[in-house]
Amino acid sequence: MKFIGSERIPLGEESFVDANIAQFYDEHARRFMGPIYRRFAAKVAGINPVGKRVLDIGTGSGRLAIELARACSDWQITGIDISEDMLKLARQSTAQGGLAGRVDFRQASAAALPFADGCFALVTSNASFHLWTDPLKVFQEIARVTSPGGYCVIWDNLRLIVLSPLLSLLGLAMGMNASQRRLWIQAIHSSYTIGEARAILRESALKDARVMIIPGLFELGIEWRKRLEETCNLESDPPKA
Ligand SMILES: C[S@@+](CC[C@H](N)C(=O)[O-])C[C@H]1O[C@@H](n2cnc3c(N)ncnc32)[C@H](O)[C@@H]1O
Repeated sequence: MKFIGSERIPLGEESFVDANIAQFYDEHARRFMGPIYRRFAAKVAGINPVGKRVLDIGTGSGRLAIELARACSDWQITGIDISEDMLKLARQSTAQGGLAGRVDFRQASAAALPFADGCFALVTSNASFHLWTDPLKVFQEIARVTSPGGYCVIWDNLRLIVLSPLLSLLGLAMGMNASQRRLWIQAIHSSYTIGEARAILRESALKDARVMIIPGLFELGIEWRKRLEETCNLESDPPKA
């Protein structure tokens, strides 16, 4: 789906590397994004991955990571972000929520994840894909750190520019101030259309991912499952005639 005059305007990966912006975003997330975090957490809790380690990419101020920890009491969540200012807020909220032992945060780029191969049963990300400078590298890293049979679920804004005046009005009705509405609209301009997201995914290490519009949310959803490795024990294979 693509609309005339709707060229993408990237915001840039570093947009949230700033203490004031981090504070501003966290307030926005606290007031307006709770229903999305809860719906995301309920969805991935239903997947029931084999394994307890979960990685949240572009975790920001940690509100999805916290919701994931609440949804599944045996998961151990690691959130990564390039913005230390965002992670400071994430650590505060996690401690306040009594979840510090189950959720930890680390400053890292999604394009160079500091984790061993196959160590996460589930990789999540919300509202971050539209900021990545090199999405193909990030998808390669996701494929590497996901365990065989593990899952990746990514949600992000969808660029439906034709809707942006309506979204601005909706933001007003929800009680967003002018700066909050501007941030929201800029994020939408920086996001992908469903066609663009599909084209990127097709070229990526997650080429068999499903790319969809999340019903009722006007959001982009990406779901991928890593194949179980095919085992082939050559020594025990019968010799060929
Ligand atoms: C709009 S915030 C979303 C935060 C959180 N996921 C949420 O749903 O509230 C996007 C976050 O992605 C982070 N980010 C952008 N590019 C990144 C990258 N390459 N690696 C890690 N984090 C990144 C930003 O620093 C920012 O904190």
